[in-house]
Order: sequence, then C-alpha cells, then structure tokens
Amino acid sequence: MVDFLSNYSIQKWLESCPQGYLQDTVYGHGPDQVEPQELLANDDYREQQIRTTVQLIAGERCALAASSGLVNAAPDQASKTFLATQTLDEGRHVEIFTRRLFDLGVKPDDLESTIKTYINPHLGKFAEVLLEKIDKKDFVAGVVGQNIVLEGMAFSVFEMLHAGAEASNPKFARTLSGTIADERRHVGFGENRIGELIRRYPDKKPEVQRMQRDMTKHMLATFHEAFSHNGAGAGRTSAAQNGASGPTYQGLNMAEASNEEMEGALSATVLKEFKTRLGRIGLEYQSPA
Ligand SMILES: [Fe+2]
Ligand SMILES: [Fe+2]
Repeated sequence: MVDFLSNYSIQKWLESCPQGYLQDTVYGHGPDQVEPQELLANDDYREQQIRTTVQLIAGERCALAASSGLVNAAPDQASKTFLATQTLDEGRHVEIFTRRLFDLGVKPDDLESTIKTYINPHLGKFAEVLLEKIDKKDFVAGVVGQNIVLEGMAFSVFEMLHAGAEASNPKFARTLSGTIADERRHVGFGENRIGELIRRYPDKKPEVQRMQRDMTKHMLATFHEAFSHNGAGAGRTSAAQNGASGPTYQGLNMAEASNEEMEGALSATVLKEFKTRLGRIGLEYQSPA
C-alpha cells in the first residue's frame, strides 16, 4: 500500500511530469517549435491534420469528464489523489490539442463549429458508453472503460501518429511524446488498482465485459471511418513524398501502405493491448460480433 501511495502521489506526479518531461515546454512542445511550412501551405494536408486533431480533442474531453467524475466515485483516498492528477493531465491534453488547432489556422471563435464539422460520429458513441458508467458513479466499470479501454486506444493511436510525425513534424511529435508518457501512467494505475477490485467483486465481470465489447465495437467503427478519409496518420501526406524512406508503423511503410493496411495494423495493435491488459486484471476480452 505504501508503494501504491507513493507511486501515485501528487509528489511523484510533480517530480516526473511538470518538473520532469514537461519542463521547459510551452503547450507541450519546445518554445521555438512551429508547424512545418509545407503543412501550412498545403490545404488538403492541413485539413487532414485539423480532422485528426479534432478527434484527439474529442477523446481528451471525454477523458477529462471521466477522470474528474471518477474522483468522486473512487472508494479510497489514494485513488482520488491519483485521479486528481489525471484530471489535470487530461485538462492539459485538451488544451494542447486545442492550441494545435489554432496553430493549424482555426480561429478561436470557430473552435466548436470546427469540432462539430469534423468529429467522427462513432467516437461520440464510444464516449457515451463510458460516460454513462461515470454518471452512475460505477468506479470499477469507469476505471476499466477509461484507464484500460479509452487510454489503451489513445496510447496506440498516439504512438502511430508519433511514428508518422517524428521526422516530418518535430513539434507535433514532441506534443505527442509528453502525452504518451502521461497515458502510460494512467494505464498503469488502471491495471494496478482495478485487478484487486475485480477479484473482490467478481459479479461485476459480465457488466464490465459488456461495456468493453460495446466500446470496442464503436472504436473499430471509429478507425474504419477515420481511415476512409485518406489516412488518419499524421505525416502520411508528407510521408508519401519521402517514398520508400518514409516512416514505418508495425512493419508497414506509412508512405506506401494502403488505408486498409494501416487500419488493420492499428486495430490489431489495440486489440492485442486490450487482451493483454484485460487478462492482467482478470477479465476476458469480448470480441464485438
Ligand atoms: Fe489524455
Ligand atoms: Fe489519459
């Protein structure tokens, strides 16, 4: 318990996050880093990046609503303390991706209408399933839905976007790497905290597994829709110009892979993660029909 308390304390968070990997960043990136000129000058590429960033904002808004709601649903003080740090992380994620939208040329007055225009409808349904559990103050289902399913998905999406942006957009890659480090901490909390609760309340299993199945269904539909818009991966347009030397993801050359191949690689990666993490907390992965 002492370990759990110190691993997920506010002190630990201060040292590793604001005083650690986020030190000297401004909205998640280096103070001098800007979006690449070739991106800003290419309307199709810029729109693709706006669309991708809108999904990140929507996902992070859901995580902010979920983590703040879970503070009051948590049965113990150590979890409330950790979730308070996570709430600030998620608020920061909403802010840095919103800032990126402005850097891509969206006017602050057009923020909500831009989100409405580009949001993937399946992502909204994915969020609804989770937020329903949060509204009911269902801590076990809420943590599995947020810290295993939502963040397991976010983690893999960020890693794919990071692979695409690393060479072509160091600013966005930097923003993503700070976010990935936060998500790693959040997923770790989910696994550590919830395994014990699932063992203590085995009758919760069927309901939690049903939620996981529903969220997975909407997530796969989200990916399918996203990749139908000429590739959701950051940097794929610019990667295409790099030809064979372009970035790779799960063994695929991102410049040459088809949208179907990219969608398949991302889905397989996330589902593999789900199976491993759910297995560790004593749940069996449920495949959507
Ligand atoms: Fe987040
Ligand atoms: Fe998170």
